[in-house]
This record gives sequence, C-alpha cells and structure tokens, in this order.
Amino acid sequence: MRYVYLDNNATTAVHPLVLERYFSCCRDLPGNPSSIHWAGRESRGALETAREQVAGFCGCDPSEVIFTSGGTEADNLAVKGVAAASLRRGRHIITTAVEHPAVLGSCLFLEQQGYEITRLTVDSLGQMNLADLESAITPETVLVSAMYANNETGVIFPVEAIGAIAARHRIPFHCDGVQAAGWLPLDCRSMGISLLALSGHKLHAPKGVGALIVRKGVRLHPLLHGGAQERNRRAGTENLPAIVAFGLACRLITASRVEDSHRVRRLRDKLEEGLLLLWPGAVINGHLLERLPSTLNISLPGARVDTLLASLDLQGVAASSGAACSSGTVRHSPVLAAMGISPETAGASLRFSLGRDTTAEEIEYLLEIIPAIRERLQIGGEGEGGW
Ligand SMILES: Cc1ncc(COP(=O)(O)O)c(C=O)c1O
Repeated sequence: MRYVYLDNNATTAVHPLVLERYFSCCRDLPGNPSSIHWAGRESRGALETAREQVAGFCGCDPSEVIFTSGGTEADNLAVKGVAAASLRRGRHIITTAVEHPAVLGSCLFLEQQGYEITRLTVDSLGQMNLADLESAITPETVLVSAMYANNETGVIFPVEAIGAIAARHRIPFHCDGVQAAGWLPLDCRSMGISLLALSGHKLHAPKGVGALIVRKGVRLHPLLHGGAQERNRRAGTENLPAIVAFGLACRLITASRVEDSHRVRRLRDKLEEGLLLLWPGAVINGHLLERLPSTLNISLPGARVDTLLASLDLQGVAASSGAACSSGTVRHSPVLAAMGISPETAGASLRFSLGRDTTAEEIEYLLEIIPAIRERLQIGGEGEGGW
C-alpha cells in the first residue's frame, strides 16, 4: 500500500540535515549553555547561532528571540505575559474567534481572572474585518492577538494592516505565525508585529521547540520562574539540540520558501480541481485567494468526516478534520462554525495540508482512489444518513 502524508499543518517530517544536526549536537555539545567552562561556551555559541538564524528568518534582532517548548507555550507567554505586565494600563484584550486554542484558551483563562476579552468574528470566507478591530479598541486595551494564517482553513489575515492599527493606538500586537511561517513573507520589523509565535515542528524541526519573538520595548512577565535563561524571560536549561535543529530548519526554509510555495500551490490547486470534479456538491471552505498555498479545507457532502478519514486512512492517505492539535478526536470545528458554515457541511469537511515533500504522484494517487470511496460512502446519492 502507498502511504501519502497530507497532514503537514499538524506536523512536518524532520528534514534529514536537521536531524543530523540534532544528533551531532547531542553527541558533541554536552555542556550547559549557562556554564562558563569550555563545554558551556561551545554550547552557548551554538545557542546564539540558532538565535541569529531564527531572527534572520522572521526579521527581528537576535536579542528579541525567546526559545520556548513550541507554539503553545509561545502563545501562552505572549498573551498571559503581556497581560500580567500591563495590569496598570488595563485589562482588555482583543483577539479573533478563529485563533488556535493556545490563544483562545489563554484568553479564556484571563477572562476567568476578570479580564475583558473581545473575540472578533469572521465572515463566511474566514476573513476578519479591520473596522471591527478599530472600533473594539478602548483605552483599557493592552493587547491585540491575531494569527497570520489559520491552521484549519489556511485563510490569511491582513497582518500588516492589523499591526498598523495596533501601532497607531500604541497597543502591542501578538501574531501567531505558527502556520504562516515558512510559506509567507515574514518580517516583524516591517509588518508591525510586536510579538510572534513560532513552532519548530511545523518547519521540519523536531517537536518540542519553538520561539516567541518579543520586540524591544514590549513589557512581558515570564510564565516560568527559575534561572536567568533567555534574559530572565523563560527559566530552565535550554533544549539545545532541538533549538540548534530549529535554527537550521529556519535557515533551510528561508532559502527555498518562494520556490516551495509556488510548487506546493500548484499541487494543492490540482488536488482542489480534481476533488471538485470528482465529488458532486464539494465546497471549499475559506477564501480562495487569501489562503496558504499548502492548505485545502473542503466539504465532501454525503459522508461523515470520521468515515471519510477512516476510508482515506485505509488507503494509506493521512488527512485531518482540521482542528490539527485535537486530531484523534473528530469534533465540530469552532473555526468553521465561526464562518457560519452549517453543522452538516462542517461535518463533511476535510483538511488536506501539503508539505514540501508532497509529490504530483501522491496527488494523482489520492484522486484515483476518491471515486471508489465516494461510491462506497454515498448510498444511492443520499449519503450515509444522519450527521
Ligand atoms: C496556529 C497554531 N498556533 C499554535 C499551535 C501550537 O503549536 P505547538 O504544536 O508547537 O504547541 C498550532 C499547532 O497546530 C497552530 O496551528
């Protein structure tokens, strides 16, 4: 059987060179970067090289990079860290209804502590409205948090415009860049991003590493207390092999980003056209143009998403229902619900997320197996019945 991996928004395979660097770091750099002897100094050097690579990847100064355990920690640190440091200024945070649970959960936690949270809605294409953002700002607002690209639909928010509005009101702007990084241009300086969350395992680095960029002048309280690592903003001995691997992954991705994006977009479009042709009534969820090149969220009516995913899995194809980090439990997507998509359509929606290693043959294989799956699941064109 063929194995086709189309769940790259959930996680990506580690790049072979990145894996090599990870192992060589484990083997050759035993020192703690905080130790002052030769072994510590060598490790410190590797840590700072990775910091420079990450900074170069997203357009900030190396001193503005805080290494974390991943995107979830970076989002938590941004939202809760800014809130805790801004207590005297106010207790109002603006975010969107379609953020990743790492942001929404942090906001909910703060709401339970007495903060006021505004969750901006999106339209039927998953796009937010800048006028809504402008009118939600109050003198009490201490943070605007909006993602660059959505993990379920791939819809891209107008990050530069959000940054400009936040800057005009002197409010820090936290951007969850976990899914957009590696596909879209990313430059904290020119895009008005005050804080940026990144995750290594979406960028062909190992799991368990990420970063929060905190631009100079942004006040932030740490979540973890202990040693003075990461300029007192994230205590704990650094996960050096993963950080060094993450730095290299950022450098490798930067070198081929534009070319990869074009190639993967062509494959995604081929898959999209094929599915629309092969599955009567298929509907794409999300904006057709303002969308990541890698992501296709599509409703295939007449079958339930869990049955569809199981049928694809039986044929070796790994896809997802969309809510990546909750894979394994298929539940209705709050993102699709926020877009006004009916439970019936959402209940038949799949996310295919292509990667840098996806091939044309893999897309062809997927399109080949679709008619048989459709015939099996669509009983007399009436569907399985019941959602
Ligand atoms: C948009 C977004 N933010 C944050 C995260 C969390 O990242 P991590 O898995 O590194 O904790 C994810 C993971 O899917 C994501 O898609």
